[in-house]
Amino acid sequence: MSTGTESNTFSIDFSERLKALPPYLFIEIDKAKRAAIAAGRDVINLGVGDPDQPTHPHIIDAMKKALDNPDNHHYALDAGLPALRQEIAKWFQGRFQVTLNPDTEIYPLIGSKEGLAHLPLGIINPKDKVLLTEPAYPAYRPAVEFASGKVVYFPLKASSEFLPDVKKIASMKDFKAIIINYPNNPTAATANKPFYAELVTLAREKGFIIVSDMAYSEVYYDGVKPPSILEIDGAKDVAIEFHSLSKTYFMTGWRIGWACGNPTLIQALAKVKSNFDSGVFQAIQVAGIAALQSPPDLIEDMRSAYQERRDYFINGLRSLGWKVPPPKATFYVWAKIPKGFSNSMETAKAFLDKADIVATPGLGFGGAGEGFIRMTLTVSKERINQAIDRLRKIL
Ligand code: MLT
Repeated sequence: MSTGTESNTFSIDFSERLKALPPYLFIEIDKAKRAAIAAGRDVINLGVGDPDQPTHPHIIDAMKKALDNPDNHHYALDAGLPALRQEIAKWFQGRFQVTLNPDTEIYPLIGSKEGLAHLPLGIINPKDKVLLTEPAYPAYRPAVEFASGKVVYFPLKASSEFLPDVKKIASMKDFKAIIINYPNNPTAATANKPFYAELVTLAREKGFIIVSDMAYSEVYYDGVKPPSILEIDGAKDVAIEFHSLSKTYFMTGWRIGWACGNPTLIQALAKVKSNFDSGVFQAIQVAGIAALQSPPDLIEDMRSAYQERRDYFINGLRSLGWKVPPPKATFYVWAKIPKGFSNSMETAKAFLDKADIVATPGLGFGGAGEGFIRMTLTVSKERINQAIDRLRKIL
């Protein structure tokens, strides 16, 4: 009889696709951070982009009420509450002046990351090529590879403000889709309408899909609002865009976002998801409606707070002789590694070992991220001040 403690008679192997993947960047960074904290060190976390502020009370209240309603305790299934999709359509119209059909052009997600990860399963055939701008949010690559697609990297350069050259894209052959992300994580670059217009024209001519991740749409500075690709005429023929409530409303842990745009792409995503999950917990959808109805002042306050931190941090870094461009959007500072360091891993390690500061090595966002380090603005001004003091000692 097996005791369950005997040695295995066979070994369990990860799949080849899993073996080919590196460990997920932010889990690894979190482990290093936890180990430092467990060792009693006062760690300043400039690693993962998770807002330090709590979710607004009116969203929590809406959730509490929704929890008391048994109607919200069942499977949410497919497209979720019509009221949520209508609220998203209203929000989108107000923010981008784009009309979306709530029934065919909007789909709620368990966070935008989930949707981005599932979409390729609905549109990519084995060995289909997908262009991926790099440095890139680490979740894109496995999304394509789990669908047996082939990632083709498109390096972004500081000299072109981390925007891809559409003429170069035009010269590339046989790809099925491109994934773009503006405002960009990690480079903090933004895209303008002429870029989107050129890309949409090319996509319609060549027949490729544009997947746009716009999770940071509301974290922008100096009053310059990033546009949506769906503002471009004809974009809905070729594009799907992903949005998130995480960063805008301090709701990272709640897991709620949406996809919108081309109805066929929405259908593909919906069909994949219907086989994998049972929708966004309905009480969270109700809380999402409350979030989208937030007074505009709250969002303005969020931007002002990050902008103040940004200016404070950038000035502090400059006082150390480290010249770093201020981000135009997102809460990420994307900096060339300081003099005296040879690569981004070495820099991040030195920051943690010698200054108790967690930062993300650029290499974690792909080869094109080497030579850079990413630091977040998701800590108080007081902590930023301490971080600058600590960096002064090691730089
Ligand atoms: C990041 O640090 O890049 C983000 O917080 C990760 C995410 O949005 O999943």
